[in-house]
This record gives sequence, C-alpha cells and structure tokens, in this order.
Amino acid sequence: MIIEGAIRPPGDKSVTHRALILAALSRTTVELRNVLTAADAKSAARVLRQLGVEVGPMQRGRPVLVHGRKWRAPEAPLNCGNSGTTARLLLGVLAGHRFEARVTGDASLRRRPMRRVTGPLTEMGATVMEDEGDCLPLTIRGGSLRRIRYESPVASAQVKTALLLAGLVGAVPVTVVEPVRSRDHTERMFQHLGFGLSVKGTEVSFTGAEGWPYAEPFELDIPGDASSSAFLVGAAILAEAGELLIESAGVNPTRVGYLSVLERMGARIVRENERILNGEPVADLVVSPSELRGTEVLADEVPGLIDEVPILAALASRACGETVFRSVGELRVKESDRLGLLASNLAAIGAFAQVYGEDLVVKGSDRPFSGRIDTARDHRLTMAFAVLGTHQAVSVQLSETGSAAISYPGFFQDLNGVVRDAK
Ligand code: S3P
Repeated sequence: MIIEGAIRPPGDKSVTHRALILAALSRTTVELRNVLTAADAKSAARVLRQLGVEVGPMQRGRPVLVHGRKWRAPEAPLNCGNSGTTARLLLGVLAGHRFEARVTGDASLRRRPMRRVTGPLTEMGATVMEDEGDCLPLTIRGGSLRRIRYESPVASAQVKTALLLAGLVGAVPVTVVEPVRSRDHTERMFQHLGFGLSVKGTEVSFTGAEGWPYAEPFELDIPGDASSSAFLVGAAILAEAGELLIESAGVNPTRVGYLSVLERMGARIVRENERILNGEPVADLVVSPSELRGTEVLADEVPGLIDEVPILAALASRACGETVFRSVGELRVKESDRLGLLASNLAAIGAFAQVYGEDLVVKGSDRPFSGRIDTARDHRLTMAFAVLGTHQAVSVQLSETGSAAISYPGFFQDLNGVVRDAK
C-alpha cells in the first residue's frame, strides 16, 4: 500500500466537550471554531439544549455559536448516548445546580462506572440517587457545594474535570491529586479563560474565577484531535512507500504519549510548524512508512496514551519482537472491554496477543493475517483494525464500520483518500 496526501483531522473530542460546556455556562455568545461534529459531541450539544442552552447547528467546517445562559431543569432524562465524557463532565456541572436531573446513555455507557465521579461530587454536597449499582441511569440533585481536596485513585481527566467544573459552578476551591497526571485540557482552557488555577506535579487546584460567568462574547479554537490523528499516523507507518501530512494535529504532551512510543519503536515522524492555539500545542506531522520494533509501555505512560492502545496494539502486531503494555486495566471500562477485545480480535486474525493480569502482550509477526473483527461498536477498535487492514499482508472483515462516526465521522473517506494499492 502506498500513502500520499494531506489530511486535517477533525476537532479534538475532549477540547470540544470542554468548550461546549464552558460556553454553555457563560452568559454570552461564544463562537467555537473547528468543533468536532461527531456523534459524541452532538450528544453533548443535545443535552445542553435540554438544559435550556442555545447551541447552533453542528456542521463540519462551520463555527458553532453557543448562547450561554442560566440552566433550567430538564423535562426529560439527559441521554448522553455513547459519550462517557458528556456524562461525567455534565455530572460535575449538575452538582452545582439546584434542580434534579436524570442522566442516562446507550447500552455501552450504562455499563461504565460513575461512582468515580459521583463519589467525590457527593462529598462536595450533591445528592445522587442510583437506580442500580455503579452505573447510569441515575438522578442527581445539585446544591450548594463545599470545597474539596480529592486524591483520585484513578488517573482520569473526566474525574478531574468533573470536580473542577463543580468548583467553577459552585464557586468553591477544588484540588485534585492524581496518581499520574491525566490529559490537561481543562487546566489549559481554565488558564486561557483567566480562571485561577495552579498545578504542582500531579496536583491541580482551582482557586476561583473572577467575573465568571462572562457576559462579553468570546471565541475558542479547537485543535485537531490527537487521538484521531493517531489512526492516520498508524496507516502511514504501515504503508510500503509514500508520506502523509497530518495538518494541525493536537500535540499536547499529556495526549501524545503514542508519538513517543512509536518513535522509540522506530517510527519516522517529523513535527513541523509547531504553534499554540488557545493554550493547546498544535503541529503538522509528516509521517513516513517505518519498520517497528517491540517495546515496553510503562504504567506511568498509560494515561498519556490511554485511547491509543488499540492502534498501538494493532501496529505492534506487525512489529519485530514483543510489545508489552503495562497496567492497562482501565481499558476494560471504556466504550467496550477494549482489553479483552484487542486480545481476542488480534488472535482471531492470527496474531499473538494475550492479557496477563492488567498487562497486554502483543508479539509481532510478518505472516499474513486474516479474519473477522468484532468491533463491539467501539469506534477506536473499528478504526484501529481498519488501519491494520490497510497492510498488504492483512485482510480483515469488520463487523460494522458505522461506529467510527462516534469520534471521526469522515474517517473512511479520509483513509481511502490517501491510501492506494502498490502496483
Ligand atoms: C477523556 C478522558 C479519558 C479518555 C476519554 C476522554 C476526557 O477518559 O479515555 O476518551 O475528555 O477527559 P478517562 O478520564 O476515563 O481516562
């Protein structure tokens, strides 16, 4: 396969969520540029509209206007679809609102743990009524909140962000200490908006936001999604010849652990035109086909590449030698059991992959692979195996392809537009 051309990945999913929510909490019109228009972002927009906020149409390439205002009690349950980020961030904001809201999601989201967020929010003063166990649906009633210093057992940006947003809405100081620093988009956006926020190692403190909610219109630019870029990087690495340019990709250091891992595996990736967009580092990436060797991904690296384990594991199956991903148990509670499904799908096409406790081991091979992939409607599994399928010695039949639209609506068009068979 030959790769050639340039792609501008869609707007970042994490930053889009934060921008939509902060705009919705303002008291003004906010213009959001390069917003992700995928299903997960649309879920966030939909629930914000149910809360009385005016969110303009979300169309690719068009700015989205959000008219922030005081939120009102929703008349129907807030359905967050497949989006864990929508659900968990929203719970943080609802904790500071004195009305009752019922929060739910699709079958995948209803299996994912919520107490990691509702636990500390309850400590802050919210009331949470669970239907059954640690999952959605649940009902939350916000109230007047207390300050908190929370030592999170998991490195999760969703947990950290929910608490920081609760601090903002409830106007109370919040400190979150993480075992390892998770993605820091909220910190960067808070600082960009002029809120009081300090960072010491893995400890983040929100100290207050003078003048918030803002009444003067403002704008936010959203960088290209680092995680969506990773699939394109993977396709370029697997190619036999050519070069791919990925324009305006987010390269926030707390997101691009995958680039460091690929570079030490031998990948040829050049960053050009590095710049800062609303506090977020962005660059153009030039990626060339590369022979990879196996590596060990350490536990401390995992939060910085948590969404990239599927594509890294797929690439590791074609590398020379063994790749070990340490302490990736969190993958069991993503949109699917990504840990189990990565191992079973890789094995189904003839690769060697096995889970040992919390570790995933993938042995590289140059033999042909072929077989059926159960994507479990998980967007990142779908895209990871679609990329693996572009390798000349790999043939995969995906159980479905529609799930890519959860985070990257034009994925297959973009991919097919830059790869062609080697003659
Ligand atoms: C996200 C944080 C991560 C990530 C998810 C988006 C965010 O989840 O997997 O896709 O926007 O904060 P966790 O906080 O559960 O690690």
